[in-house]
Amino acid sequence: MINEKRRRVIKSLTAGSALAGIAGQSILSKALAAETPHAIYTDGYSAGTEVKRLLLNDLIEIEGMASKIIPAGGFGYISGGAGDEWTLHENRTAFGRKQIIPRVLTGKGPVDLKSQIFGIPLTSPIIVPPIGSHGLAHISAEAGTAMGAAAAGTIMGVSTVSTLNLEQVAAASNSPKWFQLYMMQDIGFSRELLQRAKAAGYKAIVLTVDTTATGNREADARNHFKFPLQFGNLTSGGAGGSIQQLNSAFAITIDPKVIEFAIKETGLPVIVKGIEHPDDARIAIDAGAAAIQVSNHGGRQLDGSPATFTVLPSIAKAVNRRVPIIFDSGIRRGQDVFKAIASGADVVGLGRPVIYGLSLGGWMGVQSVFELINKELAMVMQLAGAETIEDIKHIALA
Ligand code: FNR
Repeated sequence: MINEKRRRVIKSLTAGSALAGIAGQSILSKALAAETPHAIYTDGYSAGTEVKRLLLNDLIEIEGMASKIIPAGGFGYISGGAGDEWTLHENRTAFGRKQIIPRVLTGKGPVDLKSQIFGIPLTSPIIVPPIGSHGLAHISAEAGTAMGAAAAGTIMGVSTVSTLNLEQVAAASNSPKWFQLYMMQDIGFSRELLQRAKAAGYKAIVLTVDTTATGNREADARNHFKFPLQFGNLTSGGAGGSIQQLNSAFAITIDPKVIEFAIKETGLPVIVKGIEHPDDARIAIDAGAAAIQVSNHGGRQLDGSPATFTVLPSIAKAVNRRVPIIFDSGIRRGQDVFKAIASGADVVGLGRPVIYGLSLGGWMGVQSVFELINKELAMVMQLAGAETIEDIKHIALA
């Protein structure tokens, strides 16, 4: 039985949206209507329910806006970093140490943001990285993000610890998705997740290698945060569905054999996510990685590790264009995207702002976030003298 409040929410989420061509609407209502334990909040938790376009000035202030919608415990979990949050802040500060030297007499323009990775066309070089538990932010959870990503013409990474299960997210839109694997101690269950992802049509595997333990996120302790949701993928598997069961389920050692395992089990491109050292990039490529994701998990894992922007040039040198480089952690502005690409990235991941957009406006909020950062990137390219994404790689930073 769906209660009346839930029925109203589902109706408001699915009514009147201009989603022609996107399969999400009926899937979303089915996903939300399903009487699955993970779709129901405990402890009186209530996330965003509105679906609307957002009027945004920038992707910094959106954090404060989202803090008024997402309950304190969930907001602390999403916004926080590990330990002193030095790395979290350094991810932003590092961009300020490099400047773009514009070229103004090259006759370039108009700007074209189009990009691609593994032959998948993208509206711009900005994608959604895997983020757990979108249900903390909005009742549509990952189905909303999938619809927003589809509307924005981009790829969505879907976490092992998503709120909806990977099949529900796959069905929520027709746009391409990558499944992110946290390698589990239970190899059989890891294999099952990979096989389910392949069967559900995921186009690549993102293998996250920086989480052999969960970072020390002190905001969660301060807020006495108890996860109000289960994880859709884990309820039937050996890992169980709660955060407590999950923390002891992750593999505690990771080596190149894990990369080979993910390739062998799926035959899909495997992106190795969480690289900060050039030697790890080399090892990953030697093991068959199809791409490297330079990431420090948005400052949520090893506090005191460098900003990803600081280490990107040395990793780009080691990779030497053998495979694409995806970059994330700290991207908030079009000029950050530009600087990352000028430093060797091919595509970037935009993390928390997507979740904030989801909380404030559901799938339309996600779309609004992409529209804003794409607009900023186009403006930076125009003023810096880069007509295409490839041109950005030839603009000097100082
Ligand atoms: C993450 N990230 C993440 N990464 C991953 O591989 N699997 C996961 O389940 C999660 N979960 C997750 C939850 C939350 C709340 C956040 C904020 C982040 C990391 C994510 O993929 C990405 O690396 C960062 O979000 C990028 O940093 P910014 O853009 O948030 O600064």
